[in-house]
Amino acid sequence: MSEYKIAPSVFGADLGNLREQLHKLEECNVEMLHVDVMDGHFVEKMAFGPDHVRMLRAMTALPLDVHLMVEKPERILDAILEAGADIVTIHQESTARLYSCIERIKRAGKKAGIVLTPATSITTVDPCILDQVDMILQMTINPGEGGQKYHPEIADKLRRIRSYIGDRSIDIEVDGGIDDTNIRHCADAGANVFVSGGYLFKGDIAAKVAALREQLNP
Ligand code: DX5
Ligand code: ZN
Repeated sequence: MSEYKIAPSVFGADLGNLREQLHKLEECNVEMLHVDVMDGHFVEKMAFGPDHVRMLRAMTALPLDVHLMVEKPERILDAILEAGADIVTIHQESTARLYSCIERIKRAGKKAGIVLTPATSITTVDPCILDQVDMILQMTINPGEGGQKYHPEIADKLRRIRSYIGDRSIDIEVDGGIDDTNIRHCADAGANVFVSGGYLFKGDIAAKVAALREQLNP
């Protein structure tokens, strides 16, 4: 299984101090920066778009893990790729063109992932598409809002995902309500990439990253 990776979610950052916070994250050697794109349709909120991805690309060398919570992501996919995304994840529920989206991401030389909301089963993802993807993102909350509480029952889904993907080299990312009390629970169930927003950006960022890593590698 791949190594553990921490992916702070910029949605939880203090945007007034973004440069300073990004610098701290780099000093902590986090593995990537998670960027939520929300369109006000697929989810109620609106958040970062391609221009913000471009801005972040110019501000940090961290790989950008862009989570598209967007109806018909095919409409903005090229702009997101051109803006500098390194990993792009697409909701299974958001498009009838999932396969073509994954192909476009891979053709651009980037990493591609599929997102499942709590209600979507991994068995809706045909094995043939699994051969193309680098990551499965399992939401551990309902998408669209930071600061929600982690749903522990989703650990069973993580186990099913791990077994379904077999020996393919695919990261399993969890997103929503992750903190130092539940990250181990997710890791034990098979996750290896951990998004954290509200928890990680509140207080001392370096101490929060260290607390998460301590749970993963005691
Ligand atoms: C919510 C987003 C998350 C969010 C996580 O739909 O996908 O990435 O920023 O924030 P926390 O860790 O606060 O739940
Ligand atoms: Zn997200």
